Amino acid sequence: MKSAEISGIGAFNGEEVAVSGWVYNLRSSGKILFLQVRDGTGIVQCIVERGAVGEQAFDVASALTQESSLTVRGTVREDSRAPGGYELGVTGIEVIQVADRFPITPKEHGSTFLMDNRHLWLRSRRQHAILRIRAGLVRFIREFFDNRGFVLCDTPVFTPSACEGTTTLFETDYFGDKAYLTQSGQLYNEATAAAFRKVYCFGPTFRAEKSKTRRHLIEFWMVEPEVAFADLDDIMQLGEDFIVEIVGRCLEEYRGLLTGELERDVTMLERVQPPFPRISYAEAARILRESGVEFAEGGDFGGTDETVLAGRFDRPVFVHRFPSAIKAFYMEPDPDDPAYSLSVDLLAPEGYGEIIGGGQRASDLGLLERRLAEHNLPKKAFEWYLDLRRYGTFPHAGFGLGVERTLAWVCGISHVRETIPFPRLLNRLTP
Ligand code: 4AD
Ligand code: MG
Repeated sequence: MKSAEISGIGAFNGEEVAVSGWVYNLRSSGKILFLQVRDGTGIVQCIVERGAVGEQAFDVASALTQESSLTVRGTVREDSRAPGGYELGVTGIEVIQVADRFPITPKEHGSTFLMDNRHLWLRSRRQHAILRIRAGLVRFIREFFDNRGFVLCDTPVFTPSACEGTTTLFETDYFGDKAYLTQSGQLYNEATAAAFRKVYCFGPTFRAEKSKTRRHLIEFWMVEPEVAFADLDDIMQLGEDFIVEIVGRCLEEYRGLLTGELERDVTMLERVQPPFPRISYAEAARILRESGVEFAEGGDFGGTDETVLAGRFDRPVFVHRFPSAIKAFYMEPDPDDPAYSLSVDLLAPEGYGEIIGGGQRASDLGLLERRLAEHNLPKKAFEWYLDLRRYGTFPHAGFGLGVERTLAWVCGISHVRETIPFPRLLNRLTP
């Protein structure tokens, strides 16, 4: 007998197949059992009739518990009332294990309980939908860059120095030396961009940030393109093309899951069309002042400031030219006013905040040497980086996009903890 995956069961209409999976739900109407089986690719309703399977198998099926593992044999039948369009008329059941009482039931559970049981929670429909869309989003991200001639150049996780400031570094012991988990692959991207022109890296990123907000993870995934001979405007254009494409493809491929399982109002996503508004930090500060928000000009935006700013626009908005003083050491100064930098953030609508951070990189050796000293960064660890300014320095720019914040926005879910299979949070390292 052929074994079938539920997502492709329609191809076996009229045939007898074996489906292996877990009990999702079981209802009885006396003579008939309605057994819902999930196999990871979908859920199929299996009809168990006493007459068709025999007395003993019927009793075994009646005693199945939620998440019991089994193989069901049966005939595939088209049925317009069935959720996937097909049901299984069961001819036999082979139980692998009758599961212990499953801790997660259809009733409401608190988020701490669900996070403690994350390894089991992943089986629920909603988590399943979110993580399927995540897998798609990652594919769309890779295809965007791969199709445009970007070369994937992965960057190391163990690094000898900081990229995004020293306050969020995870220190580890590296055979007696200090090493840090990467905060960003950017500095290495700058080296590979000089070798391959257009590059990207895509991997896990670590920030020892004592933030407990719905936008912060300790370990998150970031995709970072870097482009030789690009300036701030070029990189904003790339960011716009990128967001339009990945959001558009999520809508194309996952509209059903978004509007169904996740009850996402997709009208805000449909508005993600070019051009995105581009405002300077100074304009953003003026908007905040006029909105009556207490904002200390010269400082960075808080979560609430970002929400107020994004609320002024019907699509993602670029904020560029932040004060140099609040940005990383590598930012190129604005030639019109060196107190500001050629940096940019992209704010997502609906309160999701910054999803992209990037800008144009300083290309002058002397300037970078001064910046390292001002930021108290050890020059020795950066000598290789300074070499990029000694051997054919070049204008270049890039950005980083956080996968989890982007996915939270696309799915319309309130906290990033549901956007990664096993989130690492300030107070959570398990499961
Ligand atoms: O703005 P960030 O810190 O930029 C950089 O690291 C640059 N070196 C990137 C580059 O230019 N190559 O981080 C970029 C993005 C943010 O916009 C956000 O989406 C995400 O990474 N991010 C986080 N996501 C979840 N949890 C955190 N703690 C995050 N910190 C940043
Ligand atoms: Mg940032």
